[in-house]
Amino acid sequence: MTIQQLTAKEIAKIITDVTKDELIEKLEIPPDNTLGDLAFPCFILARKLRQSPAVIAQWLEQQLAESNVFEQVKAVGPYLNVFLKKDPIAANVIREVLTKGNQYGSAEGSSSGTITIDLSSPNIAKPFSMGHLRSTVIGNSIANIAEKLGYEPVRINHLGDWGTQFGKLMTAYHKWGDESLVKENPIKELNKLYVRFHEEAKTDETLNDEGRSWFKKLEEGDPEAEALWKWFRDESLKDFQKIYDLLDITFDSLHGEAFYNDKMLPVVEELTEKGLLVESEGAMVVDLSDSDLSPALIKKKDGASLYVTRDLAAAQYRKNTYDFKESLYVVGQEQSLHFEQLKKVLHMMGYEWANDMHHIPFGLILQDGKKMSTRKGKTILLEEVLKQTINQAENNITEKNPTLEDKEKVAEMVGVGAVIFNDLRQSRLNSVEFNIETMLRFEGETGPYVQYTHARACTLLKKGNYEKESELNLLEVVKEPCAWEIILTLEKFPAVVERAYKEYEPSVISRYVIELARYFNQYYGKVRILSGTNEEQHARLILVEAVTIVLNEGLRLLGIKSPQQM
Ligand code: ARG
Repeated sequence: MTIQQLTAKEIAKIITDVTKDELIEKLEIPPDNTLGDLAFPCFILARKLRQSPAVIAQWLEQQLAESNVFEQVKAVGPYLNVFLKKDPIAANVIREVLTKGNQYGSAEGSSSGTITIDLSSPNIAKPFSMGHLRSTVIGNSIANIAEKLGYEPVRINHLGDWGTQFGKLMTAYHKWGDESLVKENPIKELNKLYVRFHEEAKTDETLNDEGRSWFKKLEEGDPEAEALWKWFRDESLKDFQKIYDLLDITFDSLHGEAFYNDKMLPVVEELTEKGLLVESEGAMVVDLSDSDLSPALIKKKDGASLYVTRDLAAAQYRKNTYDFKESLYVVGQEQSLHFEQLKKVLHMMGYEWANDMHHIPFGLILQDGKKMSTRKGKTILLEEVLKQTINQAENNITEKNPTLEDKEKVAEMVGVGAVIFNDLRQSRLNSVEFNIETMLRFEGETGPYVQYTHARACTLLKKGNYEKESELNLLEVVKEPCAWEIILTLEKFPAVVERAYKEYEPSVISRYVIELARYFNQYYGKVRILSGTNEEQHARLILVEAVTIVLNEGLRLLGIKSPQQM
């Protein structure tokens, strides 16, 4: 039982005309924990009881004075502030955490169903951008959270491997390409060719026509075009895989846009049958003016398909294949219109499940306040950025702990963890500042801070020769400074996981682990954990173990590893 449920149950014994659920909903966490563990605002009873909130608070204080759930109840103006009896709650919370271990916080059988998650989805032959990094880590974390709650996540990497740009790329490769250079450095070289195409197309009109005809050939299954396409795709995937390996992220499906090439005709036919397709300047579109949206372009003048056409086919395919309960698209904010159009068209086609599709947008990654770009010939490659971060992490660790074993492995966990945490630290719609030095700090709201706290706790367990015992005796631990805050924070983890999913917001978890780490470090600063009798030490180490379990699990949900030592 949560402390909210426990408190509501007590109050409900006295106030009978409000339901327990309503009471739970109204309970607040006081701005300052010296005021109480929870506060009940008595305004909501004023009308029913025909009394002022302050009088009601006073009356409740008297009524609850003898309760064996509360240590103290206090009327403060219109609020009733309550302090819970610490011992039984602490014992309960700790027992839950220790017996469930990394299952703590999992919803027991309450959620089920498949959630498809469209994430990462970089474009072939182009550098893996910062935006794709965001999509990858946000999407992966949402998938982890969904899984913890009992859903079955399906991670889909909807590769950008189709479209007129491939016609352009083939044209450029034919004119200026060099096979061995591309083999050596696929993304860099292909991107160069692509940039050159755009440069030269400014003055040479024929290039665009050539590009279109190459793409047409590709769509019609021309073997030469297909072979080139496959080669570009394979080389790009090999490069992307290096990034996925570093992030330790895997996908359940790599069906990109090309996969839908033979699945678009039925969509176009269906749209025609349902009378939704109209001609506009030679192209075929779905008119969305009723919903104040610009028309969805389904087929170009030359018959070529478009991004939204492929997404329509993909949405249907996902519904048919996975029968998803929800279908999420973790894609930058700038594509909001696209997803609105996509959903609208599916609605017009009569698919009610379009309501279960959600675009999960996010903000930009900035460097020194400006959009961080991996494009335009500048080509900062993400893989290099990650490697640089790992190197820097290794330097920092060497400075702090020169004799650490497995330093390289730990540096990778810390470097990558820092990048991920930096991305998931704030609400996803905020933009993220990318600064390697700041994100690697061991203090402040960083991944290394949380990892370091976890490692510190693990070290305590080792030094104290902690062994798990079935007998839980917390002795006086709950009365030590900050211990109660730790208990209350541990207690709310399950609710935090649920909220993170409801809002599709990994930052709910990242803020939570920061809070838990802070309380733990305060406890560590104020209490000599390895002092006193063996029983006393053991009692404190029980609390320490609970903290390591929840920090480790919180970080795992974010996609971050927790080294035992740092
Ligand atoms: N490849 C696209 C891009 O980089 C993102 C694809 C997102 N997913 C989708 N189903 N449209 O902009």
